[in-house]
Amino acid sequence: MSENQKKIWITGASSGIGNAVAKKFANEGWKVAVSARRKELLDELAEHNNISSFPLDVTNQSQINNVFKDVLNTFGDIDICLFSSGTYEPKDEQNIDPDKIKNVINVNFLGVIDCVKVVEDYFKNKKSGHISIVSSIAGYRGLPNSSGYGPSKAALTNFSESIYFDFKKFGVRVSVISPGFIKTPLTDKNEFPMPFLKTPEYAADKIYNGLVKGNAFEIHFPKGLTLTLKFLRILPYRLYLFLVDKLVKR
Ligand SMILES: NC(=O)c1ccc[n+]([C@@H]2O[C@H](COP(=O)([O-])OP(=O)(O)OC[C@H]3O[C@@H](n4cnc5c(N)ncnc54)[C@H](OP(=O)(O)O)[C@@H]3O)[C@@H](O)[C@H]2O)c1
Repeated sequence: MSENQKKIWITGASSGIGNAVAKKFANEGWKVAVSARRKELLDELAEHNNISSFPLDVTNQSQINNVFKDVLNTFGDIDICLFSSGTYEPKDEQNIDPDKIKNVINVNFLGVIDCVKVVEDYFKNKKSGHISIVSSIAGYRGLPNSSGYGPSKAALTNFSESIYFDFKKFGVRVSVISPGFIKTPLTDKNEFPMPFLKTPEYAADKIYNGLVKGNAFEIHFPKGLTLTLKFLRILPYRLYLFLVDKLVKR
């Protein structure tokens, strides 16, 4: 490993967006530590010379702690932590099922908070680096049939905004990623037509450019969809609720 080689740790890397981002960074010459629960998929990824596998479950804080120590022992240093783990079951989202909602909040929100907590002191002591959190356009405002996923992502975006200020004082960048619809195992469960659907490789290019070449707080894509939703976000409730009720097929 060369001294100058940059290093990234990616959670949620066994499939979908995290997986494509891992390959993109590795092909660009970065050392990449990949995490998720499914070890066999991570091991496949780790056939790439620049990728190393570190399985973990983000609902287990001591595991996250140990894995981050292992990553640091192996790589010596980390430049970016990209937290992309997440879960979504569309059928469960149509009702208010407290146990299922708690599970979504546990993985999507609390699991990421635990990851950020584990890397906090490392980055603050180092006074540089970058923590990036994969949220979603589903967190912009309340949408139909999103009783757990939307709130988990709204909380994640708000959390990212909140910690931005604190980490900035230490010279550490915090960013949030808001993808539109990307074709992954997560969205393959959707039964409705997804507007502006893009590939994981498209998402990986946007994320790579946003993390490495840009300096924006929010990395969002595809713009055709995200800008429309950003416009809906500033509408007063009466208009927002009327339009979404008319536009979203249920
Ligand atoms: N696809 C989209 O359109 C879209 C849009 C907006 C935001 N997002 C967000 O993008 C992120 C990636 O989603 P994706 O679409 O790429 O879906 P995906 O292919 O299902 O990927 C989800 C990843 O999260 C990991 N994961 C789930 N539960 C975990 C846990 N308890 N501990 C550790 N890892 C866990 C999964 O790995 P294991 O099962 O191996 O643990 C997998 O690697 C998610 O946060 C999702 O909410 C996706």
